[in-house]
Amino acid sequence: VSELGARYAAVRHATQALVEGLSAEDCQLQSMDDASPVKWHLAHTAWFFETFVLEPFVPRYEPVDPAYRMLFNSYYVGVGARHPRPQRGLLSRPSLQQVLAYRHAVDERVGTLLSREAPPAVTERVELGLHHEQQHQELILTDLKHHFSANPLAPAYRQGAPRSAEAPALRFHAFEGGRASIGHAGDGFSFDNESPRHDVLLAPYELASRLVTAGEYLAFIDDRGYERPELWLSDGWDARERGQWHAPLYWEQRNGGWRLFTLHGNVPLDPHRPVCHVSYYEADAYARWAGARLPTEAEWEHAAQRHPNSLGTFLDDQRLHPAAAGPETPAQLFGDCWEWTASAYLPYPGYAPAPGAVGEYNGKFMINQMVLRGGSCATPRSHIRASYRNFFPPGARWQFSGIRLAR
Ligand SMILES: [Fe+2]
Repeated sequence: VSELGARYAAVRHATQALVEGLSAEDCQLQSMDDASPVKWHLAHTAWFFETFVLEPFVPRYEPVDPAYRMLFNSYYVGVGARHPRPQRGLLSRPSLQQVLAYRHAVDERVGTLLSREAPPAVTERVELGLHHEQQHQELILTDLKHHFSANPLAPAYRQGAPRSAEAPALRFHAFEGGRASIGHAGDGFSFDNESPRHDVLLAPYELASRLVTAGEYLAFIDDRGYERPELWLSDGWDARERGQWHAPLYWEQRNGGWRLFTLHGNVPLDPHRPVCHVSYYEADAYARWAGARLPTEAEWEHAAQRHPNSLGTFLDDQRLHPAAAGPETPAQLFGDCWEWTASAYLPYPGYAPAPGAVGEYNGKFMINQMVLRGGSCATPRSHIRASYRNFFPPGARWQFSGIRLAR
C-alpha cells in the first residue's frame, strides 16, 4: 500500500468512527437549513472522490449509482443539478446501510487506483479529497450538535464531561509587526485560497495570550452587553434582534445559573473554558466592550508563524469541547475554538481558482463572509496550519467559533 493509500484508509476510517454509536434515526436529522444530516455528509464525501477522482481518472468509469450524482452534489454548479440543501433531511432513501455500502464501493475503487503508480494529477486530487473529508468530519460534529440540541432530552453524543482546569490571567503579547509574508509556503498541502503568498505591512500590535473565557463573556452579558446598541454593528444589532440573542448559542439560564448544551449533553457552564458558538457580531461587540478589537487575519497568521506550538485541543484529543488555556503564552492559537478575525474573506492578490468544477471549492464564496483562523476541538490536528483560512457568514454560530482579542 502506498503512503497515500494508507492515509486515505486512515482518514476515511476516522469519518466512520465518528458515527459509531449513532442510530440511523440520529444520522437522518436536519435541524436547520445550514446543518446537514450525518448520513448526507457520509454520502457527499464519497461523492467527492467519485466525482473528482474516479470519474475523470478511471477510463470508462461506471458510477456506483447514477442518481447519487445529483443527490450528493453540494454546490458544484459545473457538475450539474443539486438536491436543495434544506431538503437533505428528506432523503430517507438511500438508507444509512446503502450509504455505507456506497462509501465501501468508492473505497475499493480508489484503493485500486492507488495500488498502481498514480500520476501527480491523481494523487493531488486524492489529497484534496482527504482534506475535504477532514472538513466534513468537523461539520458532522457541529451539525450533529445542532440537531441534538433541538431534542428536549439533550442527548449526549459521547459520555463523560471532559476534565476542567483553571484558565491563566489574560495578558497581551506584543508583536513588532513590520513587513510580513502571509499565505502558504512550502511543499505541503494547502487550499487554493491560501495562495499566493504575499507581503503585508503590519503596525505594531498586541494579541491576547488566550481565548476569551465563558466567565469573561458572562461579565459582558451581566453588563447588559446584548442590550447596548453602541457596542454593536448595525447588521449585528439586527441579527441579535431577529434571533432574540441574549447569550451564545447553546447557553441557557436555569434557576439563576447558566448551563450549556454540549456533545456530552447538558452541563453547567464552566467559567474557565473559552466562550464558544458566538457569531462574528457577538465577538466584535464583546471586543468593543472590552476596549479591544479582533485581530486581522494577517496579524493572526504573523503571530501563528512565530508560535507553531501554541496548541490547544483537537479532534484527536476526543474531548469535543474547548478546554481552558494552558500556561504557555500565547496559548491555544491552534485548536479549541476557531478565532473570528476582523478580515473579510477576500482573494489574495493574484489569486486564481483551479480550472473546472473543482475551482468552485473556495473562490466563489469570497463575498459576505469573515475569516476564522486556528481550528477547533473538532478539527483534526493534521488538518490545520498557520495559513489556513476558514470562512463563515458573520451571523453563523453553530461552529466552534470563539474570540481572541487584539489591540
Ligand atoms: Fe463538501
